[in-house]
Amino acid sequence: MTDQAMRASASDVTLPGTSQPHAARAASTPDADVARETAALDNAALREDFVRQGAFLYLDKFLAPDATAQLIRLARELQPHINRNYLPGHKQGGSVSRHTIDEHAPFIAELYRSKALIGWLEQMTGDRLQVCPATDPHAYALYYYTREGDHIGWHYDTSYYDGRRYTMLLGVIDESSCRLDYELHTRDKDRADEPGSVAIPPGGLVLFDGDKLRHRITPARANEFRVSLTFEYVTDPGMRPWLRLISNMKDAVAYFGFRQVFRRLLSGGKNRA
Ligand SMILES: [Fe+2]
Repeated sequence: MTDQAMRASASDVTLPGTSQPHAARAASTPDADVARETAALDNAALREDFVRQGAFLYLDKFLAPDATAQLIRLARELQPHINRNYLPGHKQGGSVSRHTIDEHAPFIAELYRSKALIGWLEQMTGDRLQVCPATDPHAYALYYYTREGDHIGWHYDTSYYDGRRYTMLLGVIDESSCRLDYELHTRDKDRADEPGSVAIPPGGLVLFDGDKLRHRITPARANEFRVSLTFEYVTDPGMRPWLRLISNMKDAVAYFGFRQVFRRLLSGGKNRA
């Protein structure tokens, strides 16, 4: 067998539970990809940007092309699992929770837990970060804007946890006119509000403190298609019981449905059905 033939046959081998070629898997993990990409960034300057912008950062290129391609493929494959929601005047769209991702797209769960990624986020935010508890359906989730009018109105990603909660948003697919509109410094009485607007290309990143950034996603037009992936990290995963109830009700009504949220809570987050 020639070297070329051996390489071709190795790359055809698919690991159980993934559709990623074995050769590519051996050479590149989500953690290694993130470590390589973040080592090439001017992280001191990015940290300054994050602070100056009131705990907000946008990068049009962040994730490695291979990892981005994986996310695009998974986002398309997971479409049968989308939970659609409609809250008049506030939001309309689809979502796939971390529970479904755990079952069908372990690559995303692996990326969420990447030590290189969490280390870089800690460097940007200046906080020690932890992953969200297993029962939190937002910990990692895909959000779909696939029908005319899909959007989310102005809001904060309010933390119901005892500590701060950071949102990291990755662009996955953007065949749309949707934009992330935002206002910086709205919670800082000493600084003027500063509006901004970005389209987030595949592999692009937005990072912010959910309690500080007022933001929205503008409505999709007919025949448009947009998917984003969000990761949530917390400084303290504790949550007071009444806030947990509010948080669970909001998730059930506005995002993932009662079946997703409460069945898994009753089973301690372990029920994969
Ligand atoms: Fe949000």
